Amino acid sequence: MFLSFPNDFFFGTSTSAGQIETAFDHQWKGLESKDGFIFSKTIDHELRREEDIEYIKQFGTVYRCSVDWSRLQRAAFAPLEQDIVEEYQTFFAHLNDEGIQIMMVLHHFCNPIWFEKTGGWKTEDSIAAFIDFTRQCIDCFGQYIFSWNTFNEPNVYAVAAFFTGDFPPHKKKLKLAKRVINNMAKTHVVVYKMLKEAFPEKTVGISLNTAYFKGTNILGVAAAKYIDWWYIKRTAKLFQLVDYWGLSYYTYMPLNPFPVSEIHRPGKLAKMKIPHDKMWGYYPEGLSKILKHFHKRFKKPIIITENGICSDDPKDRIKCIKDYLKVCHDAIKEGINIKGYIHWSTFDNFEWHLGPSYRFGLVNVNLYTKERTMTEAGRFYAQVCQERGVRI
Ligand code: BGC
Repeated sequence: MFLSFPNDFFFGTSTSAGQIETAFDHQWKGLESKDGFIFSKTIDHELRREEDIEYIKQFGTVYRCSVDWSRLQRAAFAPLEQDIVEEYQTFFAHLNDEGIQIMMVLHHFCNPIWFEKTGGWKTEDSIAAFIDFTRQCIDCFGQYIFSWNTFNEPNVYAVAAFFTGDFPPHKKKLKLAKRVINNMAKTHVVVYKMLKEAFPEKTVGISLNTAYFKGTNILGVAAAKYIDWWYIKRTAKLFQLVDYWGLSYYTYMPLNPFPVSEIHRPGKLAKMKIPHDKMWGYYPEGLSKILKHFHKRFKKPIIITENGICSDDPKDRIKCIKDYLKVCHDAIKEGINIKGYIHWSTFDNFEWHLGPSYRFGLVNVNLYTKERTMTEAGRFYAQVCQERGVRI
């Protein structure tokens, strides 16, 4: 069966600067990942931009990406480095010339060291520095951008950096996570207004991470309900000044009441007979529930800003694309206004604290030589984008 998508529906792929450019002066630099790599060289994207455009342009009409704040700005309120600005401008202009629209993410998990040193997102005082950075991004890059994400998954950032301690600065206090998310939300409102003032016709949103939480016993049910509220519903309320909801979805997380994932309890999901990838439980229908909730609650357009699967096997990725596009197609048929699907990720990249062997790429990247190879899944997705639909 061939599922075709509406004419105004777009396809695309996504990356983030921190995961594909060589670490400059941000807080991930030098950290050792779970699979034993040092966060330094990632996939040499800054050295291979022209080669990478040849892949990007095969995957739909939208490329979602970010810039490295630490490379662009060396101190609070400093002017952006002109040569780095020009490097990004050349890249963006080339993408635009190829007919690719750019969705720019202003913050994707990476802060310059100088920003961390002055308290980072824990302190309300830091907000002004990010706003200054945004203002300069608007001036330098605004003309190349068709849509903005102010923050990528503020809920993941706040929880991973300040509650579970997986991301730098490795804190473990729920109170801090709450403060960080509140500071990001305050910033979002200011940045949203700045962007709308500069470009009233361009859409602005965030990317909110969503997941399907399900209790496997009484305590688990209570935990799932609480997490669903804290992580998704409460965050959504804080960031509701948006033109569209950018939603990312990867995860089915059973709770017993502790979360069960392949990362922390390898083998456990299989024992529970739950399909999974290298990181989490796999349940595409969970996205359908999320889409219904957001549609009913906010009645705003939705963009799937990230979705994918952690696997070395392109066959898994093809199945993932089919499964999730079917969910989107069904939702559109039911009247949910989904504007586009952006697959994570264009290339294998550095999967944060877990490392580069946790692969999400449509294009395979050799861990050592950085050589790129189109995968079978990449060819499949390129065809989906070209035919504007999927054969399931
Ligand atoms: C993040 C990406 C990450 C992906 C897979 C999302 O939460 O935005 O940076 O690589 O998930 O874990």
